[in-house]
Amino acid sequence: MNVTVIGAGTMGRGIAQVFAQVGNEVVLTDVYQKALETAANEIQKSLGKLHSKGAITEAPELVYGRIKFTEDLSLGRDADIFIEAVLEKLEIKEALYKQLNEIAGENSIIASNTSSISINALSAAIKKPENFLGLHFFNPVPIMKLVEIIKGVRTSASVVEKAIEITRQLGKEPVTSQDFPGFISNRILMPLIREAILALEEGVSSREDIDKTLKLGMNHPMGPLELADFIGLDVVQDIMAVLYEEFGDPRFKPPVTLRNLVNARKLGRKSGEGFYKY
Ligand code: 3HC
Repeated sequence: MNVTVIGAGTMGRGIAQVFAQVGNEVVLTDVYQKALETAANEIQKSLGKLHSKGAITEAPELVYGRIKFTEDLSLGRDADIFIEAVLEKLEIKEALYKQLNEIAGENSIIASNTSSISINALSAAIKKPENFLGLHFFNPVPIMKLVEIIKGVRTSASVVEKAIEITRQLGKEPVTSQDFPGFISNRILMPLIREAILALEEGVSSREDIDKTLKLGMNHPMGPLELADFIGLDVVQDIMAVLYEEFGDPRFKPPVTLRNLVNARKLGRKSGEGFYKY
């Protein structure tokens, strides 16, 4: 299968990598050359790690060799599936979909990795909305087993079936969701993170003990504050803001502490500081 991934950030490069790992030819494209260079380095590092612990048996160079890194989207025109993983801004996605409408084949699937924008709203910019759906991956993509499949009102049943099959080929497990804000995952995760931040704000306990409670008491691999830092506090705030607006329910309202950290550009791991220092 030919796969084109648009957007070479953390999610896009992880998605490109896992498709290449199972034998697909992948074009990874981005408007920034620097993002492509970083992606190339990170993919090589990740493949090296996976190979050294036996999680992939094929030589990392062979897997890496199946990924073409390019700024030229038209090189990916022959894709059976396009996966969009660009910034979570409606205007940016719509502008990209205009280009995809020109180059995508009649039967190509177009999927968005959006974590919070409505699939139905996005589908309005797609020429063949029956071939469009949400494929929501989780970070780090090479490790996380889940793919959330989001069906829009106009997505065809056969495209959903195909997406389920593709997810399984990647060695991952699908879940399907209707197009409700936050789908399944972020609808449940965001209030958890929010409540942890409120517990911290209200002085219930220290950040370490809040995280320890979820790690050791509920067997979560990371506590919610640590996880928020891992996702990126700006990303967490943006998702909460979308959910708050869509549901109009205070259970999704971004807490003040989160806003303050984001405004101070303390964005979590990627900026060196968030709820914790790195
Ligand atoms: N590529 C290859 N291997 C990787 C990797 C990558 N990108 N990232 C981590 N690993 C490997 C490590 O090498 C390590 O391998 P080992 O066990 O054989 O040594 C293994 O994964 C575990 O990594 P670490 O030892 O560094 O650290 P941890 O044991 O703490 O695991 C973690 C890291 C996998 C990130 C784990 O903490 C975890 O599962 N955290 C929760 C992540 C999570 O919830 N992600 C979803 C976020 S929400 C989201 O993405 C959706 C969005 O819409 C918000």
